[in-house]
Order: sequence, then structure tokens, then C-alpha cells
Amino acid sequence: MKYNITVLPGDGIGPEITAQAVGVIKEIGRLRGHEFILREALMGGCAIDATGSPLPDETLSICKASDAVLLGAVGGHKWDNLPGDRRPEAGLLGIRAGLGLYANLRPAVIYPALRDASPLRADIVAEGVDILVVRELTGGIYFGQRGRRVTDGLEAAYDTEQYNTAEVERIARTAFEAAMKRRKKLTSVDKANVLESSRLWRETVTKLASQYPQVELSHMYVDNAAMQLIRDPMQFDVIVTSNMFGDILSDEASMITGSIGMLQSASLGSGKLGLYEPIHGSAPDIAGKDIANPIAAILSVAMMFRYSLGLETEAKMVEEAVEAVLNSGYRTVDISSKGTTTVGTVRMGQLITEALKT
Ligand code: IPM
Ligand code: MG
Repeated sequence: MKYNITVLPGDGIGPEITAQAVGVIKEIGRLRGHEFILREALMGGCAIDATGSPLPDETLSICKASDAVLLGAVGGHKWDNLPGDRRPEAGLLGIRAGLGLYANLRPAVIYPALRDASPLRADIVAEGVDILVVRELTGGIYFGQRGRRVTDGLEAAYDTEQYNTAEVERIARTAFEAAMKRRKKLTSVDKANVLESSRLWRETVTKLASQYPQVELSHMYVDNAAMQLIRDPMQFDVIVTSNMFGDILSDEASMITGSIGMLQSASLGSGKLGLYEPIHGSAPDIAGKDIANPIAAILSVAMMFRYSLGLETEAKMVEEAVEAVLNSGYRTVDISSKGTTTVGTVRMGQLITEALKT
């Protein structure tokens, strides 16, 4: 089979970690006889430097014409003082909206080999943590009206949170479906004690629940959810929430697993096309030093195989290779501990590539 994959290396450590992920894709192609046609395009700060825009039209059309998009990370101090709509991050929001990718899946899993890396006490994570955060990605306050105005003679700024029932229903459906394939527990997170948009969210999720009688649905306020994630993370299976709450809670959930450098994500819409990226940022302070952890980027490839390309066997090969390398004691510096062997970005990529088995 032939697959078109667009690669957006981006900024900071993006190019280094994506290079390792691309190495894995090529090796899978060789081992399994697939033809992966990889095409690079510009997005983020590098696109601003080259074209003036964080998301050039050409990049969006190349992405639209492909089967899947693999992204490194975008942003950096160099572009921090640009106006909001011209920052690298605007490119990321533009691509999510432009490709209609409303569902963001962010798994947070503790690998047995990395149990010591969790900052939480051993008994709190004893039976393992396996949470899937389903974050709404193309609505809410990220895309609502915003602006500046003068009120009471003072400069003021506003952002608005708005959701309609269709937006809530489709993300809730994604979450219920995911829960059906897992432990069948869904927690919907909102702030319905204060926000009207959250009250509509809660009503809509509750209505949909009647179509999924096997799923145990509960609702939780976001402040409580932030607390419960630290107090007892094992209580969670699938969490569904809005764009901004999901942004915050997915960072929190990721840290429970020990390193944000380990976690991948998928952004999906109504079709097969998806965007796959590590949940960590561009980490400009460690860029170019061969110390970044490429595992989140490599696990993003596994998600891409699974969700966009329908290659489940290949997805498992990648996940098993990562686990095998961790079990052999190799670590990048962010997850290293006593008695393990610290390796750089490139070496970690090579080890995982070599560990791929059909
Ligand atoms: C993320 C990031 C982005 C977001 C930023 C870079 C715009 O934090 O993917 O979680 O807030 O969505
Ligand atoms: Mg974030």
C-alpha cells in the first residue's frame, strides 16, 4: 500500500525528534513492504521566517491532500513578541481548524519500566495509571471572539467561551466510543457551577449517555478534577472536556507519568485524516543538543498508523519496540534514573528502530 504523510518538523527540538520518528516510519515501510511517501512542509516559527506566515496556504493544502500529518513542535522565544494572530501557535490553531480536527486524544500511561519516574508517591500509582484525555480542539475560548476595548476609561481585554450542542455532542461521542473500547468509565469535566457554556456541555453529554448505557458517566468540576488527578489518578479512565480545560488537565495528567517527553497525541476529525504530535513543546533551551526525548514523537507514529492508516499491526510493533528499549534500561536524560543507561536523541531513535520486529 501507498501512504502520503506530511511531516511538519517545526521549531526547537521539533526537527530532531521528528527525524527519529521518520526513521521509524521508513523502517516499518521496509519491514512491512509499505510505501510511505513523506513530504516536509513549513509550519510555525520556521514558516514565519521563510514566508511571513505561521501557516502558509501551501502547507495547509499539502496537509489536506495527505493521509496523515506528523508534527514536531512549534514556537520559540524568537517569535514571542509577535501579535497573537501571527505567532507560531496561530499556525497550530489554524491547522487544527483548517483540517477540522475537533477531537484531541491524549493518553497518559505509566510504563512499568518508568514507575519510579512519577513524581507521585508509589502507592498512589501502584496499579498503574492509564488515562485518556479527550480534549475538544476547535471550539471554546481558543476560537471565540476576543479583543481589546476601553471600559470605565481603562484598557480591557476579553476572550469568549462558546459551545453549541453539535460541537459538544460530537466530542462526547468520540469519548463514549473510546470508553467503550477501554474500561467503560467516562468523566466529563466542566465548570457548570459557574459557566453557562458548561451547563450546556453537561446537559448535552448527559443526553448522549442514554445511547451508551454500558458506560458509567460522571461529571466533575475542573478544579476538583485537577485535585483528583493528583490525589487518586487511578480512578480515571476516559476524561472528556473543553479545549482550555483539556489543555491544562492533559499537561497535568502527563506529568503524573513522569515525563512529558513520553506522551503522544492524535487530533482527529470526521474523516481518516489526522494530525499526530508529541504533547510537549519545542523546548528551545535544549534544542540542537541531542538530549531531547524522541519517544513522544515515535509513539505519535504508532497512533498515526492506528487511526489514520489502519495499520494496527504496525502500531503495535512501534509500541512494543519502545517498551523493549525501555525494559533494556535505555533512557534519555529526562527519564533517566539510577542504574539505567543514558543515551541521546539519535541513539534512542536508533535503538527503537533496531528493536522493531515483525
Ligand atoms: C497544546 C499546546 C497548544 C495549545 C499551544 C502551543 C497553542 O499547549 O497543544 O497543548 O494550547 O493547544
Ligand atoms: Mg498545552
